[in-house]
Amino acid sequence: MADNMDVKERILEVRKQVEDDLALLRDSKSVYEAKKKIMDGKTGVIGSMMREMGKIAKEQRAEFGRSVNELRDWAEKRFAELNEEFRKKELEARYESEKIDVTLPPKKIRAGSLHPVTLVTNELIDIFSSMGFEIYEGTEIEKDYYNFTALNIPADHPARDMQDTFYLSPEFLLRTQTSAGQIHVMERGKLPIKVISPGKVFRSDDDATHSPMFSQMEGLVVDKGITLGDLQGMLNRLVENVFGPGTTTRLRPSYFPFTEPSVEVDVSCFACHGKGCRLCKGTGWIEVLGAGVVNNKVLEGCGIDTELYSGIAFGVGIDRLAMLKYGYNNIKLLFESDLRVLGQVKE
Ligand code: PHE
Repeated sequence: MADNMDVKERILEVRKQVEDDLALLRDSKSVYEAKKKIMDGKTGVIGSMMREMGKIAKEQRAEFGRSVNELRDWAEKRFAELNEEFRKKELEARYESEKIDVTLPPKKIRAGSLHPVTLVTNELIDIFSSMGFEIYEGTEIEKDYYNFTALNIPADHPARDMQDTFYLSPEFLLRTQTSAGQIHVMERGKLPIKVISPGKVFRSDDDATHSPMFSQMEGLVVDKGITLGDLQGMLNRLVENVFGPGTTTRLRPSYFPFTEPSVEVDVSCFACHGKGCRLCKGTGWIEVLGAGVVNNKVLEGCGIDTELYSGIAFGVGIDRLAMLKYGYNNIKLLFESDLRVLGQVKE
C-alpha cells in the first residue's frame, strides 16, 4: 500500500471490490468458493491484508489493524448472510421439484398369480403332507423298464397300446405315467412306504381333454395290512379338500396291469351334488383317477415280501382336476399362456 494512501480509503476500496464480487454470486456453492478465495491468508484480498502491516506508517498501524478486523467481521457476516439466503432458496427449489402429489391415483400393479395346475399341485401336496406322505420327484426321461416292464407291462403287452408313447430310443422314453416312480421308491428297499410323486407325463394324444404333456400325481402306500378301504379313505380326503366338504368318491372295477384289483374312481358331482347336470353328463359322478391294490407281481419284482406287506396306489390327472375345479372346458387353455384366462384364477 502506498504510504500516502489513507487507511480509510484503502479499506473502503477493498470493501467496494468485495461487495462487487459478492453481487455476482448466485448460489451457496459460489459463496463458499468466493469466501475461500477472498479470505485466504496468503492470497485473499481481505485474508492477506494484515501482511501489509509493515508497509503502514507507524502511527496508522493501530487504526489499520482495527479496520482490517472490522472489514473481516463485516465480510464474514456477509458470507454467512448470503449463504443462508441461497441455502434457503435452494432448499425451497428442491422441495418444489421433489413434491409428491399424494392425491394422484396410484399406478396399477398387475400382480402375477400361480398357474392353475401349480395351485392344484400345491393343494394336493399340502393334503398328503398333512397325512404324512413324503414327496418323490421322478425324472421325465425314464427307462422303458420303469415305465412299463416293472409295472407288469412287458413288451407286446396290449396295455402298452393304452398309452401312445414317445420313445427316445428302444431303452429310453418320456414317461407316460408317474407310476414309473413307484418302482424307484420300492427299489430303495425301505418300508413302510408313503409317497406322492407329482410331475409331468407325456403321451401322443391331442384333443379337447388330452394334451401331449400333462401332469399327474402318483400316490403309493406299502405297509402291513393295507387295503382298498385305506385307499378310499385317502381319496375322500383328497376330493373334499379340492372340491369342498361333502364331496365323496365311488369306486368302479377297472383294469391296470400293476394293480389287482384295479378301480376307476369317480367323484360325486360338485356342481349338482349328484342330481345330474351337464358337467357330470346327468350321472351325478365324474371320473377323476385310476387306482388299485398294488399287484403282488410288482411288489415281488421289487423284493417286497407279499406275505407281510400289501400296497395301494393311485394316479390322478392334475390338469383334469384343475379343469373341473376352475371350469375349463379345453385342456389347451391351460397351456396357451393367455393371461385373460389364467388371470381369472387366484389363490
Ligand atoms: N398310471 C395310471 C394311468 O396313468 C393310473 C394309475 C396309477 C392306476 C396307480 C392305478 C394305480 O392311467
